[in-house]
Amino acid sequence: MSGAETLIEFLRGEEARGVRTVHLDEQAKELLRELHRRAKNPARAQAPTPAPAATAAAARAVVLEEAPKPQAAPVVEVAAPAAGSAAQRIASLAKQAENWEPARRLGSLRSTMVFSTGSPEAELMLVGEAPGYQEEQQREPFVGAAGQKLNEILKAMGLAREAVYISNIVKFRPAMDGQTTNNRKPTLEEMASCISFVRAEVEIVKPRCIVALGGTAAEGLLGLSGSVAAMRGKWHEFSGIPVRVTYHPAYLLHNNSGAQDKRRVWEDMLEVMEKLGLPISEKQRGYFVTRP
Ligand code: URA
Repeated sequence: MSGAETLIEFLRGEEARGVRTVHLDEQAKELLRELHRRAKNPARAQAPTPAPAATAAAARAVVLEEAPKPQAAPVVEVAAPAAGSAAQRIASLAKQAENWEPARRLGSLRSTMVFSTGSPEAELMLVGEAPGYQEEQQREPFVGAAGQKLNEILKAMGLAREAVYISNIVKFRPAMDGQTTNNRKPTLEEMASCISFVRAEVEIVKPRCIVALGGTAAEGLLGLSGSVAAMRGKWHEFSGIPVRVTYHPAYLLHNNSGAQDKRRVWEDMLEVMEKLGLPISEKQRGYFVTRP
């Protein structure tokens, strides 16, 4: 096999694995340029092909890279208040968020600020993506249908909503043209504009464990991309705190999500309960197991 074929086969293999972007070193680029010139000018095709050894080396020199992430604006850090109780410090953060310039200047977020709910001294922190219509109306995260589902999950864990700390990465509802009750996911830029609040919240609450609710929250919090299926089942870290990724509660409300997805979320929650040292009964262990 010629060096060119080696390179092409290698690239096809990467494409089949789902890799969408590769960095080619100069040698590999020159090889591809030469192939392009030959395709355009058949006379050139008679010229000797690049030496197989050199082109094979070029193929090996291809360096894989993660797909480049869209560039977000530089993160502006919020000043986390050092004094006062956790509740006072969270209230002070929320006040700063009201007119948070990095978010306001994007012009893509609505004006009502929705900060967090629950206990600022909780051991468990749950982070969603952004408030929706209901949350904006009530100025509280996770109060709509997804919030009801989240409450059910917490109840199954033996936890009251008031005993955990619930927040979103973005503190404003993402705006849309002609928007009524419809919501959209926040962009990376919108998440970056508010992420320093989440860091400050973690610094104040000091949870023992964080749950990222859904792929968008995981992307904003952990810089991950891809499916929730690939992100869950392991511990990640944010500001030194262990993070578990699970499906967004809204996903469990969709028609195409079934008992298996409920079980997957529940398995993630069992891991969280173990991390927190919460008691787990046999009954709890068996929730949502599908029997043949
Ligand atoms: N979805 C979220 O991610 N956050 C909310 O507060 C409500 C729905």
